[in-house]
Amino acid sequence: MEIVIVPDAAAGGELIASAIAGLLTRKPDALLGVATGSTPLPIYQALAAKASAGDVDVSRARICQLDEYVGLPPGHPESYRSVVLREVVEPLGLSASSFMGPDGSAEDIAAACADYDRALAGAGGVDLQLLGIGTDGHIGFNEPCSSLSSRTRIKTLTEQTRVDNARFFDSLDEVPHHVITQGIGTILEARHLVLLATGEAKAEAVALTVEGPLAAVVPASALQLHPHATVVVDEAAASKLKLTDYFRATYAAKPAWQSI
Ligand code: F6R
Repeated sequence: MEIVIVPDAAAGGELIASAIAGLLTRKPDALLGVATGSTPLPIYQALAAKASAGDVDVSRARICQLDEYVGLPPGHPESYRSVVLREVVEPLGLSASSFMGPDGSAEDIAAACADYDRALAGAGGVDLQLLGIGTDGHIGFNEPCSSLSSRTRIKTLTEQTRVDNARFFDSLDEVPHHVITQGIGTILEARHLVLLATGEAKAEAVALTVEGPLAAVVPASALQLHPHATVVVDEAAASKLKLTDYFRATYAAKPAWQSI
């Protein structure tokens, strides 16, 4: 696992957007897995800026969703489909046909989950999966004690996650209890995992993920199993790591040609 400590969220967004631009240069139709929430927004803004400046051609990029609320009416502004269309697909000038996600309003949720895992595999697999991290260590919406080999399925949100996400809704009561999320096993199939964490509220979860044992109670620790996982943290999110000197020295000594 590579740990990169950046000064702030904007620097993290820029670094990761550059890595995505590099990927799209090598593979113009790469399948990019996107997370929602506040953390990845600087990545999407930096990538859209590079695309408008003509620094990268994103016209053939394909986008896929990591997770989705269950039970929100189609078109709800806080459904993750709406969020990804608004924050990623439209700013990059892509059409909705370049985007795929699980159907959170399906009658048969179990079938929708299985369909989504099949669709990801059918699309050739995810090339780069962006991840945020919950204050409880979740990735996607794999809450603590999720199976480390889980597939896309329905999960129940912890109260902590519902409270964390209430800021996107008018009240806590409106935050759904259930979600569809790519499983940890599904996420681990992506070719490159890039987790961005910013702010002090994530410091404990980051320390457990990076320096703690592999444990289902900290779902993000599953990144330890992946051959190409990058964790980008700002100073505040890095504040509880013990090996920061080593991580800084390693990144500083990295050959210029080697991207994250
Ligand atoms: C949502 C997702 C979640 C968030 C996490 C952090 O698609 O994948 O794991 O990344 O809940 O959310 P923020 O970034 O809002 O703190």
